[in-house]
Amino acid sequence: MALRRFDIEAGGHSFAFKPETEEKIAFWRGKYPADKQRSAVIPLLWLAQKDNGGWLSEPAMRVVADMLEMPYIRVYEVATFYTMFRLQPVGKFHIQLCGTTPCQLRGAESLKEVCTREIGKAMYVTDDQRLSWEEVECLGACTNAPMAQINDDYFEDLTAESLGQIISRLRNGADVTPGPQVDRVNSAPEGGTSVLSDPKLFDGSRNSLSALPNLPKPPGPATPEATGQPAADAPTNTKREEPSSKDIKS
Ligand code: FES
Repeated sequence: MALRRFDIEAGGHSFAFKPETEEKIAFWRGKYPADKQRSAVIPLLWLAQKDNGGWLSEPAMRVVADMLEMPYIRVYEVATFYTMFRLQPVGKFHIQLCGTTPCQLRGAESLKEVCTREIGKAMYVTDDQRLSWEEVECLGACTNAPMAQINDDYFEDLTAESLGQIISRLRNGADVTPGPQVDRVNSAPEGGTSVLSDPKLFDGSRNSLSALPNLPKPPGPATPEATGQPAADAPTNTKREEPSSKDIKS
């Protein structure tokens, strides 16, 4: 894990939550009893990061610590442990590019080259303050690898070309569409489903199974076997032979 340090210089000396965030703070604090308020540290740091332009300054951490009556070091420990908290300034659009194995195998390396070429080295903020990027570990969307998270949205099934277009649109203030960047819905197969597509599977018309092995036979006309009687062509050694008169000794 990379060493994560505060950017003391960029953080200034003070921080205050936006007035409209107070309601969200009350919501999260309300989830925990009065003597367990520290449990709200992660959501409050998350809200502080949002109110601080996408990263956590040291004064912002202190405000959260004071609010929850925690020692500053405890809040520093949380903020430096979780990579969801950024400790230095980021651009208006911060790209978290997944570099873990599934994404790596599906082309994450070429996406890194795009970010480096279009934005600069990791955590560099462009001069217009609009873009920055970093490599992160698995973001849990491996089925749609390779992928990146931009602010709060996932962009999946990326190629060098599609990521380049997204970056260009963000730079120019144009809208971008999150989700898979290929022809598929969520994690469904590209181009539509190819299995389990028979409507009879879903309208109930295939509910009666007729050919399962070892099913009991349906009742039919009575057979000698069913009634316990020997069949007409049963082996004759079960028949008793009648003695002839010459066999009977006088
Ligand atoms: S490896 Fe990239 S999302 Fe899981």
